[in-house]
Amino acid sequence: MMFKLNKKLLISVSTAAVLSLGLSACMESASPTKSPIQTKKDIDGGVSYPVINGKTGPYYVNEQVARDAKNIRYGRVPTAEEYAEWNSDIMPDGTGLPEGQGSVSDGEEIYDAKCVMCHGDFGSGGGGYPALSKGNAYELHKTLTNQRLKPDTDGPVRVFGTYWPQASTLWWYIKDAMPHPLTDSLTDDEVYALVAFVLNANEMEIDGVEVDEDYVLDRAKFLKIKMPNRDGFEPDIYGPNGIKNVRTYFANPANFGAQTYDVKNPASRCMKNCQEPTAKVAYIQGAGISDFHPPLSEVRDLPVEKESTNFDVKKAYADNCAMCHDTGAAPAPGDKPAWAALTAKGMDKVYENGLKGTDTGMPAKGGSSLSDSQFKSVVDYIVNQSK
Ligand code: HEC
Ligand code: HEC
Repeated sequence: MMFKLNKKLLISVSTAAVLSLGLSACMESASPTKSPIQTKKDIDGGVSYPVINGKTGPYYVNEQVARDAKNIRYGRVPTAEEYAEWNSDIMPDGTGLPEGQGSVSDGEEIYDAKCVMCHGDFGSGGGGYPALSKGNAYELHKTLTNQRLKPDTDGPVRVFGTYWPQASTLWWYIKDAMPHPLTDSLTDDEVYALVAFVLNANEMEIDGVEVDEDYVLDRAKFLKIKMPNRDGFEPDIYGPNGIKNVRTYFANPANFGAQTYDVKNPASRCMKNCQEPTAKVAYIQGAGISDFHPPLSEVRDLPVEKESTNFDVKKAYADNCAMCHDTGAAPAPGDKPAWAALTAKGMDKVYENGLKGTDTGMPAKGGSSLSDSQFKSVVDYIVNQSK
């Protein structure tokens, strides 16, 4: 599947690279009189590689040193157990998927401890990290056909719930690759819980049952998940006809937008006299850029933040902070003891904590796009009500 990194391959490639780096020096002296290249071999049908001492590759490999590879300080050959551990496959039909269970509420707890700092509240994403949900998967699935024709129109929403064809990829991805700094650290039950939480955040259902806050996910239920976009990819690579479908699909260039010369015969590949591209391209001419209206600025300074003169601090609070600070999730304006405790360390530190966010639940700037000084004036507004 496209999201899966083949660790086995990665290991063996890097081991080979290390070996060749360390050993290429021996190459010259090993066979000084006659050229070691004996034959050539077609590996992928397109490229011929020299075969040296029965091995493909541009480097001579010293068998003895390769056997003692564990002595090389750069690394060693992985053991069979390590291969087995890394080489997990979780397939849509349930192959590789272990038994286990986890609830949405457990998932939320783990998520808040191990994922929220990167993936945002309820998987909303942000700060360059991918969103795991943007809301109701079934509704937002419809946006996949949106074309972003104008800058202000909504483009397709591509997140797990709306876009991924198979839920097994989510299970697999979380188990193998997340949390980002500590991969492979979650138990199977924890992964079920996190998957349940992500399904809940995407407002999904399983077999007609809403994955609500009390839902407990297990293997049998997991295998009944039907992703809204399960038929959204072509060619269909699943099932016994998968390979055939791929061949048929790629045999016809028209299927993947390739330019064709003979419109009457879309399957013919264009090698010469191809049809003219229709899109107009703006070229950069000489040293200057002339085709843009208005012309592109060559000023390198960052734009100065434009402050609105009629900034409404109450509205900014209601729009950006009230969802936590008025609901009990965070200290409310007017909660004198709470704010006295927070401001005891000095207002500079309070501003800083607010601007940068804290480990204890305050997102940077409350997740808002207020400017620094606007944000500070909202902090003042909260704090002043608590004096
Ligand atoms: C330190 C930051 C960080 C943490 C913590 C983290 N992730 Fe991620 N996550 C990432 C990054 C970065 C990517 C994108 C990786 C890529 O595309 O190569 C990602 C991708 C994902 C994806 C795939 C999203 C997509 O649409 O491609 C899922 C699902 C996911 N993470 C789940 C989790 C879960 C569950 C946890 C908690 C157990 C977690 N992550 C913790 C940084 C993090
Ligand atoms: C997603 C929930 C959430 C939102 C939205 C939010 N806050 Fe907070 N905020 C918290 C929590 C939880 C705390 C208490 C824990 C802490 O201080 O880390 C907090 C603490 C703070 C603090 C004290 C920081 C410190 O530790 O000194 C300030 C100041 C603050 N918020 C200002 C704001 C402002 C202003 C907004 C809106 C622009 C906002 N918050 C939006 C959750 C939120």
